[in-house]
Amino acid sequence: MEYLVHGDLCYSTGPEHIETKENAYLHVKDGKCLAVYESLPSNCSALEIKDYRGKLVLPGMVDLHLHAPQYAYRGTKMDLPLLDWLNINTFPEEAKYRDTDYARAAYRNFVEDLKESPTTRAVIFGTLHKDATLCLMELLEESGLETMVGKVNMDRNSPEYLTEHSAEESLKNTREWLEEIPKNYRHCRPILTPRFTPTCSDELLLGLGKMMEEKGLPLQSHLSENKAEIAWVSELCPGTRNYGESYDRYGLLNHTVMAHCVHTGEEELDLLIERGCFICHCPQSNTNLQSGVSPVKHFLKKGAKLSLGTDVAGGANLSMFRALTDAIRASKLRNCLLEEHDSALNLEEAFYMATLSGGAFFGEVGSFMPDYEADFLVFSRKRQSVREESLLERLEMLLYTEKELFEMEAKYVQGRKIL
Ligand code: GUN
Ligand code: FE
Repeated sequence: MEYLVHGDLCYSTGPEHIETKENAYLHVKDGKCLAVYESLPSNCSALEIKDYRGKLVLPGMVDLHLHAPQYAYRGTKMDLPLLDWLNINTFPEEAKYRDTDYARAAYRNFVEDLKESPTTRAVIFGTLHKDATLCLMELLEESGLETMVGKVNMDRNSPEYLTEHSAEESLKNTREWLEEIPKNYRHCRPILTPRFTPTCSDELLLGLGKMMEEKGLPLQSHLSENKAEIAWVSELCPGTRNYGESYDRYGLLNHTVMAHCVHTGEEELDLLIERGCFICHCPQSNTNLQSGVSPVKHFLKKGAKLSLGTDVAGGANLSMFRALTDAIRASKLRNCLLEEHDSALNLEEAFYMATLSGGAFFGEVGSFMPDYEADFLVFSRKRQSVREESLLERLEMLLYTEKELFEMEAKYVQGRKIL
């Protein structure tokens, strides 16, 4: 498989720069980007050309944190803080996924909508139910998206109707789930998923740490999202200096995405950086659940691995364009309200987080630089603009206005057209 994509290319090369190449060519071979050309090289004239002239071509969006079972009730009961929201809204809904028919119907809607969104890669929570999670993985594998999915672990402080009754039971369910994943899956892979420290016993976290190492698996969880949650963790885990240590003492930060980090202080941040842990910022969720505004610009300046997530259903929308601009909006509010001088993110930084920076959790993903996997989106304008616009302006308009001004015309993952 080898071809050229002819269009207006925009891609991040780092936190400070978006490369814009109008009327250019992206050379794709065996699912990867080979090069970008400003004009057609003579030795490429025999190659197939995908003609997207005049259209925006950008890397697929990478959503490093969302909950598939929460998609069906997104946008309901949004006026509760985290711990009440979990007890009143989330846990009763997630318990429904015990019924695999219900799960299949709900997950079909989720996967169809994710496929039609600008997201090409996602790291996803399921529920604690093995069969429902296998069903979600089957649908995602068929979708052509590149994903990681976790069966949730929770064995304490959970309602009787949504719990695993011991660490042993939770670890056994997890091993069975891993064994039942069909060996021929290429696009959907497992990720270990302790819900968060309050619902996971020490014995369970210890067991997951061993499993992570033994099987070479990545892990996802939640960290320092809400002040009441953090106070609870310090009670549950005497002897830890911060919430991050409740995971780190079992080796759980080494190949990991931690969602939120709204209230992460210097000591916890240094630990995450030292371990190479990905921080996943979820600005819409953090405002909906009144968790706070994460100091992400500071994280970026310190060199943390920073990504973006929708956190459906803490966030009500699947759109990573919305997450990207929400990150900018939230950081600007932080800048004004706390009278900080340099906490506002700009377009280049937020675009970097949604593509190249988050993409690194999957490898060389999220850009059109040589050797990056060829995940890309093609957008065309619904109506001809009356203005002269630079390519960077057109990209910014797409990210802020989404479907109002533009429509997605094609979506490719690893060079394969999936839409
Ligand atoms: N912390 C533990 N579980 C959850 C969840 O489902 N959503 C969010 N936003 N935070 C959590
Ligand atoms: Fe979450």
